[in-house]
Amino acid sequence: FGHSIDWHEAVDSTQNRAQRLAEEGAPEGTLVIAEQQLNGRGRMGRGWVSPQGKGIWMSMILRPSVPIHFAPQLTLLTAVALCRSLRRLTALPIGIKWPNDLLVEGKKISGILLESTAEEERLRYVIAGIGISVNLEQSDYPEEILNKVTSLRIANGGEGFDRTTVITDFLQEWEQLYFLYLENGFTPIITLWEALSVSLNHPARLITPQGTIDGVPIGLDASGALKVRKEDGSTVIVFSAEMGEPV
Ligand code: BTN
Repeated sequence: FGHSIDWHEAVDSTQNRAQRLAEEGAPEGTLVIAEQQLNGRGRMGRGWVSPQGKGIWMSMILRPSVPIHFAPQLTLLTAVALCRSLRRLTALPIGIKWPNDLLVEGKKISGILLESTAEEERLRYVIAGIGISVNLEQSDYPEEILNKVTSLRIANGGEGFDRTTVITDFLQEWEQLYFLYLENGFTPIITLWEALSVSLNHPARLITPQGTIDGVPIGLDASGALKVRKEDGSTVIVFSAEMGEPV
């Protein structure tokens, strides 16, 4: 991974650029990196703050030969790899908020956006977008999200990190986990994810497309969906939701 790198000073979004390359037949492992994104995309149609030279804004092209419903597992795998790598490099207490936000002291420092294209129920390619807020300062963020986001630098008392080191270490970790996954399946990744999660065993409110669920997340099921114990003692499986504090 990262043997073929498509580097840009500025793009609209590395996701769009990677998608174009994938359509043109770029091989698995191709990496698109930009110093700046003019229209960085987050999950749920939100934007992603991606100022010049301050973070890691990149997208990887994957071509795993698995059925389409395995795509969420790759998201969780990416979160595990990133969390392990960033913890090792920064010694900051970084944890995973389900499904794939990385938080430090309750604030987000990284986001993952997987976009997949399938053909006849099999994945044709996946674009794994990774945004890491490495050296951003408070003034880089719009005021209204300052209570929800931070950067490695801010969390580290103002001292920044070398972006190349972060990318290299992350790619090594990612590749190891990806091969583990392709060989041994998702079970080992579940164990790693659960150990790094800050979402388990705390009451939460989940806003799903089907309605609101209040309960305590207790783990992942075999497919990577979240198991939530409700107040009445029953367990529900949540595939996709926004997770917030209980009200
Ligand atoms: C989220 O909402 O948490 C996901 C954010 C993903 C941001 C990354 S930055 C690189 C890639 N290009 C984008 O436009 N988005 C992703």
